[in-house]
Amino acid sequence: MAKKTVHIELKSEDQIELMRAAGLVVAETLAVLRAAVAPGVSTATLDALAEEHIRAAGAIPSFKGYHGYPASICTSVNEQVVHGIPAPEQVLAEGDVISIDCGAELDGWHGDAAVTIPVGQVRPAARRLLSAAEDALWAGIAAAARGARSGRGRLTDISFAVQSTIERAGRYGIVEGYGGHGIGREMHQDPFVLNVGRPGQGPSLVPGVVLAIEPMVTLGRARVRECSDGWTVVTADGSLAAHAEHTMAICADGVWVLTAPDGGRGRLGHLVTARQPAVPAT
Ligand code: MF3
Ligand code: CO
Repeated sequence: MAKKTVHIELKSEDQIELMRAAGLVVAETLAVLRAAVAPGVSTATLDALAEEHIRAAGAIPSFKGYHGYPASICTSVNEQVVHGIPAPEQVLAEGDVISIDCGAELDGWHGDAAVTIPVGQVRPAARRLLSAAEDALWAGIAAAARGARSGRGRLTDISFAVQSTIERAGRYGIVEGYGGHGIGREMHQDPFVLNVGRPGQGPSLVPGVVLAIEPMVTLGRARVRECSDGWTVVTADGSLAAHAEHTMAICADGVWVLTAPDGGRGRLGHLVTARQPAVPAT
């Protein structure tokens, strides 16, 4: 890839507080959806629930209408990796895994997060895949937090942490071509956050950098293709995929995971900034 200058828009502490409010709308919506996931439920039902919840919170579902995207969430089931479009005929079955990606805009600020949820009882290999994606996400966030504290953090420290965590977890595919991004008054801002790479490269992780980190992991090969609907990304080999995403802010003494109810404290402990009050999990 050609080197180009990326401009990262830094957010003030007050702006990060506003982004936290947007992040919490996303977190609460995902909690509602997690509780609703069950065999027999359609992805269109989940979409309706999401839109209702986001709007009830005074926010806007940011995906809806984004480049013509027709729904409030992305629901990607089994071999679908990301950007699956909810549909009434797509009904969840025991043993499925579903990635739900949710974005909300509140007072002009965006939050973006995704979780992959097992439907009922899933096979152990699927459970481990979900953990690999989740662990990789948190490893990426932890790397950013360490960089924030040392003052020497660079963007690809995150990429490296994501990649090495997945590689340590097993022989998984790491999807490339999609990845994380800056986020703020737009859902997608610079920089692009790769899920693979050598550490120590790219922009410095200084206070005010706000990023969505989103690893995508497959049980088989890493290759993906886009479906004829123009959105849904599926694994080329039909293997299961998992996706996890959080929006996080770099602060002077750590990170604040804006789309985690507890700000990330449960997973990261002292790596979470002390500046922000912990918000109790709902
Ligand atoms: N969370 C997704 C991302 O970061 C956004 C979904 S694309 C949309 O790329 F069109 F549905 F909004
Ligand atoms: Co995103």
